[in-house]
Amino acid sequence: MKVYISEKEIEQKVQELGEQISIDYKGEDIIAIGILKGSMIFIADLIRKIKSNVEVEFIFASSYGDSTVSTGNVKITHLYENKISGKNILLIEDIIDTGLTLNKITSQILLKQPKSFEVCSLFVKKDKHKFEHKIKYCGFEIPDKFLVGYGLDLDGRYRNLPYVSVIEDFI
Ligand code: IMP
Ligand code: MG
Repeated sequence: MKVYISEKEIEQKVQELGEQISIDYKGEDIIAIGILKGSMIFIADLIRKIKSNVEVEFIFASSYGDSTVSTGNVKITHLYENKISGKNILLIEDIIDTGLTLNKITSQILLKQPKSFEVCSLFVKKDKHKFEHKIKYCGFEIPDKFLVGYGLDLDGRYRNLPYVSVIEDFI
């Protein structure tokens, strides 16, 4: 399996993101909301690099089924309790592809009037996505390729790879 982004590069980037978030939120509590399942490994690593108080919550979202292309039909299940109003919400995403998932989740969160709202995504398909808000914390800007590993799956597989590969490289 060809390594596209190595374990070391990911570790370094997560460290940098954590340091920047720690600076920006100094003295402020954070509610980090991970979007499952893809962000599970990223959020677990990231929160250990953040020095502020962090509470972790999750949202479950799915739109891909067994394919590498979004169906456009984003299903969302909120797993958190009512913890948005007046809080510093940091939404943690593994990868932004079309941006449809985040658009839907973001509009629902903003309705509940958080104190602040920011997005942190490890990977962003920069020229493709149509996310309507700014992405304050972006790990890697990547071309339109389907990635697996470090939490990212193809039909449930490859999440446990410690590095990231491009799916064409598997076939
Ligand atoms: P979006 O709604 O198209 O932005 O896609 C959001 C979700 O689809 C992400 O949270 C991922 O779980 C999944 N996804 C998008 N692109 C990829 C990819 O390249 N590899 C694996 N999962 C992906
Ligand atoms: Mg996924």
